[in-house]
Amino acid sequence: MEIYSFGQRLIREAGQFIRNRMTEAYTIDKKTNPNDLVTDVDKETERFIANRIQEKYSDHQLIGEEYKEHSIENTDGVVWVIDPIDGTINFVHQRANFTISIGVFIDGKPHVGLILDVMNDVLYHAHAGHGAFIDDSRLPQLKQTVMEESLIGLNPKWMLKSGIGEPFMDVARQCRQTRSYGSAALEFAYVAAGRLEGTIFFRLSPWDFAAGIVLIEEVGGVVTNALGDPLSILKKDSVIAGNTNVHQSIQTAFSNNEAFVKHRQDSYHI
Ligand code: IPD
Ligand code: CA
Ligand code: CA
Ligand code: CA
Repeated sequence: MEIYSFGQRLIREAGQFIRNRMTEAYTIDKKTNPNDLVTDVDKETERFIANRIQEKYSDHQLIGEEYKEHSIENTDGVVWVIDPIDGTINFVHQRANFTISIGVFIDGKPHVGLILDVMNDVLYHAHAGHGAFIDDSRLPQLKQTVMEESLIGLNPKWMLKSGIGEPFMDVARQCRQTRSYGSAALEFAYVAAGRLEGTIFFRLSPWDFAAGIVLIEEVGGVVTNALGDPLSILKKDSVIAGNTNVHQSIQTAFSNNEAFVKHRQDSYHI
């Protein structure tokens, strides 16, 4: 319980840190490609969060997106998985619609999930076995839905990728409508809150999905990779999340697609 309440205070303080920092200038850099942005604020916020955790819990492990030294080799003990800004493109272009995502795992098992919608200061939070909440309101268990009546998080860019676009189109055809919010963690929070019935992403990193797993599982939802295998906080993977029915329908669309299954075997972890 102490980690949970400390984490909630910390993520709110980090949100305030970002909102204050946004009143001053910051630099925008490109990482692996021209659309992979990072700012001083991403880096400073990760340092802010990591320093606080290390001051309080010197024996905990830590993974974060922006610093190589924030990485781990095993999942032993308490591991904090941090995305200081999830949705950096939204942060830069919109100055809104981005989150801080913090997941805490103990010996590889989900323990606490915290996703802060920074500009609205709304916190989605869960403690394994104790339920999930938006601020002070407890979230109900997810309802089962059919694809035809489901709203699905899906980035249309993935449909354009050769070899793997087809199952995305299949999901888009089956569902009522698609949405793409630009922050994976925000979409996971929306699935937990029943605002999306499911969502799908490729090549996410542990800091994108760690907190989301805790929140969604706490309301009876399912989170796996595209072929239905469990996720690990040690590696990148594709992610499907949703209520049980919707999760199964999306997984079937991917598992039945031979080109996708082969592509996955042959190349990177998608
Ligand atoms: C990104 C966002 C985006 C997802 C990308 C992530 P970042 O995280 O979650 O929605 O599609 O795959 O990398 O880089 O803004 O922290
Ligand atoms: Ca990034
Ligand atoms: Ca991210
Ligand atoms: Ca990030």
